Amino acid sequence: PAPGWSLDADVVVVGSGVAGLTAALRCDAAGLRTVVVTKARLDDGSTRWAQGGIAAALGEGDTPEQHLDDTLVAGAGLCDEEAVRILVTEGPDAVRRLIDTGAHFDTDEAGGIQLTREGGHHRRRIAHAGGDATGAEISRALVDAVRARGLRTVENALVLDLLTDADGRAAGVSLHVMGEGQHDGVGAVHAPAVVLATGGMGQVFSATTNPSVSTGDGVALALRAGAEVSDLEFVQFHPTVLFLGADAEGQQPLVSEAVRGEGAHLVDADGVRFMAGQHELAELAPRDIVAKGIMRRMQEQGAEHMYLDARHFGAEMWEHRFPTILAACRAHGIDPVTDPVPVAPAAHYASGGVRTDHHGRTTVPGLYACGEVACTGVHGANRLASNSLLEGLVYAERIAADIAARHADDGLHARVPAPVAPAQKPAHPLLAPEARLAIQRTMTEGAGVLRSAASLEKAAERLDRLHAEARDALAEHGKTAEPGVDAWEATNLLCVARVLVAAARLREETRGCHWREDHADRDDAGWRRHVVVRLNPDRT
Ligand code: SIN
Repeated sequence: PAPGWSLDADVVVVGSGVAGLTAALRCDAAGLRTVVVTKARLDDGSTRWAQGGIAAALGEGDTPEQHLDDTLVAGAGLCDEEAVRILVTEGPDAVRRLIDTGAHFDTDEAGGIQLTREGGHHRRRIAHAGGDATGAEISRALVDAVRARGLRTVENALVLDLLTDADGRAAGVSLHVMGEGQHDGVGAVHAPAVVLATGGMGQVFSATTNPSVSTGDGVALALRAGAEVSDLEFVQFHPTVLFLGADAEGQQPLVSEAVRGEGAHLVDADGVRFMAGQHELAELAPRDIVAKGIMRRMQEQGAEHMYLDARHFGAEMWEHRFPTILAACRAHGIDPVTDPVPVAPAAHYASGGVRTDHHGRTTVPGLYACGEVACTGVHGANRLASNSLLEGLVYAERIAADIAARHADDGLHARVPAPVAPAQKPAHPLLAPEARLAIQRTMTEGAGVLRSAASLEKAAERLDRLHAEARDALAEHGKTAEPGVDAWEATNLLCVARVLVAAARLREETRGCHWREDHADRDDAGWRRHVVVRLNPDRT
């Protein structure tokens, strides 16, 4: 569709979580004309749901070097060490700047930032807010700052495609906006710098901690634009998600690692602490190890879930330290003060994404990626707990600095190239919204916590069939689903699911959060490398 309205800017930021809003604020502060576009409301992404906190070497005796070591161990041999070094050394100051922006973290009696522990961390280094509502506070502070500075924002704006100039450089994005007055319908923001900060793709699975908006839109856009995407097979399953039944679908309540960080135990149906003896850190082992420990014990016992036992915290600590989790449990009829909490792993975080360098630049000039949508190399095969908010912060600031430097060097906005209208590209076969459920069930069955060649092959076949049906309906009958958010989300989910499955089939080993039943061991000789995918833009 040809754009019906357009805006001009120096930089357009797509997404409004910690990564997007930090990038936007820093770009604005550098004097760049900045527009933020976001699919729902400004605070509707994953950031708001983050519980445990943000990791940084802020505590006495802690150092970036120790944070680096823990991150590399969790990443199971696939982290980019330089990317991690940047994260951990720039992290503490980035958190302080976030505080200057207005975020309030929980403090101790002396006024210092309170720090907790989570899986894989050998130190207390997780800053938190509102007890277990860290993301909500960060989101509040950033949204307030964006409004206070008067940044241009367009809400309810579903990003469709990257616009490029004749040399293949980013020139903006096309968008479908609903109910926003002057920006209603299909339009475009023209800008020579585009920052993708669209978050993750948890909705590709049936049960996930991610909100319904996490549909892989940024990765799908990047793939359609010919950018490289890396490490998609590494989907992290959070070990302790409130178990609401084997057939529960959609967003599920998280029970933060910080609950284990404060001393909760994982127990099986017989009350046995099964993680003790499996790893020196027991319940606080890296996330992949705990998720596997839970899955194994579930298989051994034929159980649908395990339990998290924190009755010993007592009512006061539960109410003060974990009010969000307490309320969620009670809303589902479980009282953690008197009962162990039923938990099971669920999809939580995409460690892979759009491949970037250390300044957040993707392989398409002018296109940046930041936060969960990106693969900066800091997470490797398994993200260390609470490194994601930090990554969003640190790399957003780097991106803003890079764009500002480019702008100063070559007067970026003075030479905005004419974008290629999206109508000149081949039309995408859009999926019917109902396909979403089929994709999610296929992925959970075939490409979930446990994978094998056979399960992945079956998943690939089903996904290919969905793709072929949509493609043939368009090619043969000129039919495609009515364009709208639901159809685009289903289409994006299918796009990322197919690449994820292809990468998972290739990686014939078990590493980090990629667990192959038919290749149970880590294969450093064959697989200490990345699966990088780039699609032919004409064939997506
Ligand atoms: C949690 O609170 O357990 C989530 C932390 C994270 O995903 O990093």
